[in-house]
Parts: sequence; structure tokens; C-alpha cells
Amino acid sequence: MYICLEGIDGSGKSTQIGMLEKWLKDIGQTVKIVREPTESDVGILIRKMLKSSQATEENFQNTLALLFAADRTILMEEVGEAESSGEIIISDRCFYSSMVYQNNTDWIAQINKHVKKPDITILLDLETETALKRCDGQDHFENKIFLEKIRKRYLDLAEKEEFYVINANNGLNKIHHDIKRVLSPKFGLCI
Ligand SMILES: Nc1ncnc2c1ncn2[C@@H]1O[C@H](COP(=O)(O)OP(=O)(O)OP(=O)(O)O)[C@@H](O)[C@H]1O
Ligand SMILES: [Mg+2]
Repeated sequence: MYICLEGIDGSGKSTQIGMLEKWLKDIGQTVKIVREPTESDVGILIRKMLKSSQATEENFQNTLALLFAADRTILMEEVGEAESSGEIIISDRCFYSSMVYQNNTDWIAQINKHVKKPDITILLDLETETALKRCDGQDHFENKIFLEKIRKRYLDLAEKEEFYVINANNGLNKIHHDIKRVLSPKFGLCI
């Protein structure tokens, strides 16, 4: 099972993935955590590029989109292997991040056509002001207007792609509980 957590910067993905990993292990699952960009050479290059001051330019964004697709294509091998050995893969972002963070969704879908979509996508939805406070405004991309746009795109995509949308304005434990409520039936559990 391939599960992805999506959401704007600072929405709590990494925090919730840590809690989710522990819970899944407690219920006897073998868990593999992956994140995008990955630790591959391409992923390392992406992280470096994301810090660049050119990061808002279109040509630069297109290059990034191609690199993300390449990084993700490499990752798919790992995901496929883990799935066939019965592991639960939790991914910190996936193909959908490219769909909302980059322009030109048709092209993004095309260059990602060999990439597997997650079985379950959980969107942590959060007011941008709260997200910015949590992030401390440290990242180049983390400005309010930009995040507002991304949040809206996530919510639009959530309807089309049937994401589970969780209110991430709540406390850690409440969000964790809501995520467990989504996933429990998939493991034959009732919470
Ligand atoms: N529910 C919450 N309430 C208050 N603070 C939170 C909550 N969830 C996470 N945080 C804090 O907000 C900050 C951002 O959380 P986190 O790193 O999990 O977000 P993220 O979605 O992984 O962000 P990024 O996209 O930048 O990796 C962290 O300092 C974290 O401790
Ligand atoms: Mg994170």
C-alpha cells in the first residue's frame, strides 16, 4: 500500500508521518518512509536548486519539474519493490506536489506518466498564516500569496483525485487520530 501525505509547507506532514509510522508499526505493519525530493543525486540537486534566488523564474521551474519527474521515476523502483514485499510505503509528498507547485498541469501529468499514483492520499489542509507561523518564514517560497495559491490548488485537486482532506489547524494528536480514522478500515481495524 502506497500512502502519501500532501500539504503546503509547514502543514505538519513530517510530524504526522513520524506518528503514523509508529502507529503502523504498533499494529504490526512493516513500514517504509520515503520523501520527495529523495536522497538520490537528482534529489540532492533539486534541494540545492530550491534554495536558488532564480526559483520563481519559469524556465527554472520547468527544469525543476523535469528533475522532480526524474527523481520520482527513480523512486518508483524502490516503491515497487517495497510494495511487492508487503511493506506500507508512506511518502512525504508525491506526484501531486508537482501538480500543485508547478504550472502547466497537462505537461506535468505527461512527464510523470510512468509514475504510480498513491493508493491513498491524505491532504493536511491548513490556513496559510498558521503554516507560515509554524515555518518561521525561513524558506524562499514560503510567502502568503504563494501559499494561498498552492492551498487552493490542493483543495481543487483533492476533489478531482479523491484525497482525504484533514483539518491540520488542530493539535498533533487530533490530526493523528483523524489520519488513523482514515486508515484503520484499510487494515480491518475500527478506532
Ligand atoms: N498540529 C500542529 N500544531 C502546532 N505545531 C505543529 C503541528 N504540526 C506540526 N507543527 C510544527 O510545525 C512545524 C512544521 O511542521 P512539519 O515540519 O511537520 O511540516 P511539513 O509539512 O513537513 O513542512 P515542510 O513541507 O516544510 O517539510 C514544525 O516545527 C512542527 O513541530
Ligand atoms: Mg516536512
